[in-house]
Amino acid sequence: MPRIFSGIQPTGNLHLGNYLGAIRNWVALQADYECIFCIVDLHALTLPQEPEELRSATREVTAAYIASGIDPERCIIFNQSMVPAHTQLAWLFGCLTPLGWLNRMTQFKDKAGKDRDNAGLGLYSYPVLMAADILLYRATHVPVGEDQKQHVELARDIAGAFNRRYNTDFFPLPEPQIFGAATRVMSLRDGTKKMSKSDESDYSRINMTDDADTIALKIRRAKTDPQPLPHSVKEAEMRPEAANLLGIYAALTDETMETVVAHFAGKNFSDFKAALAERASATLGRIGGEMNRMMADPGYIDGVLRHGAERAQAIAEPHLKLVFDMTGLLRL
Ligand code: AMP
Ligand code: TRP
Repeated sequence: MPRIFSGIQPTGNLHLGNYLGAIRNWVALQADYECIFCIVDLHALTLPQEPEELRSATREVTAAYIASGIDPERCIIFNQSMVPAHTQLAWLFGCLTPLGWLNRMTQFKDKAGKDRDNAGLGLYSYPVLMAADILLYRATHVPVGEDQKQHVELARDIAGAFNRRYNTDFFPLPEPQIFGAATRVMSLRDGTKKMSKSDESDYSRINMTDDADTIALKIRRAKTDPQPLPHSVKEAEMRPEAANLLGIYAALTDETMETVVAHFAGKNFSDFKAALAERASATLGRIGGEMNRMMADPGYIDGVLRHGAERAQAIAEPHLKLVFDMTGLLRL
């Protein structure tokens, strides 16, 4: 069975974009793949984190996976730092990765900003650790958002570099699996910006743990234009806020954008927003409620992570040993 690896950084405020753009798609993959879903806490450390918040966000992402329907028996769910082989393999890969490859990474350029000299080494080498995450398990498929495609392609290049250097076909070349652009969820305050964990306004996003009243309030306050709802998808595309809300509705109901636009054409935003709020709380209310229940008693979550780490370790360790042997590291 082909193997999937993917991960989310535990950096707080999981939102509707994370659910519709990532986690929900993963739930569907469990049937056809052997799945490993990681909480990539070491990646989170590439930017400053409060220790207590990092720990609690690690549990929050775990709870989100489980509450969304990822089965912790069928899949492996664990946090990255529990399996030391990730960082060990990342070092070997770092020794094979030319700086020129990393210099092309657009996410580093965005995150580092203008002050490149003050960006951390970890932020720069982050895609090498990501390659190690994937290849440590010899994963063949990596479901990610469009923004991570370049990093998965780098993982392919690194796998190729290792295979050529040591004359082996040990590492498969992993494929990015990009899910429809339709699930790019935008900010409720600005239809041209992605909904994001780091937006300072909580009204810009619907958090996975928001209750029905909060969801309804945020949707009521969501930015719109003064006209009634668009009559065609083409018209919607020229009105980013309308397009975003209609797109969210379509994703939540598994309908096409055409169907949703036809259904609400010419209606007032207030009616549409009430319908959208109902749909959003029907989906997230149950998931968020379960997340909150799990986080109130983290013993269960910690048990899942411990069990997941043992299973991950059982795959990772033998792979790392083979790689150490191939590279000539003396293990006595
Ligand atoms: P991040 O929140 O950037 O750590 O992303 C975690 C996962 O959620 C990645 O697979 C992203 O592609 C996905 N994701 C994050 N924000 C959005 C969004 N606004 N719309 C759709 N997917 C998103
Ligand atoms: N870099 C990814 C992100 O920021 C998270 C990640 C780390 C990841 N390791 C991974 C995703 C391995 C897929 C596979 O969203």
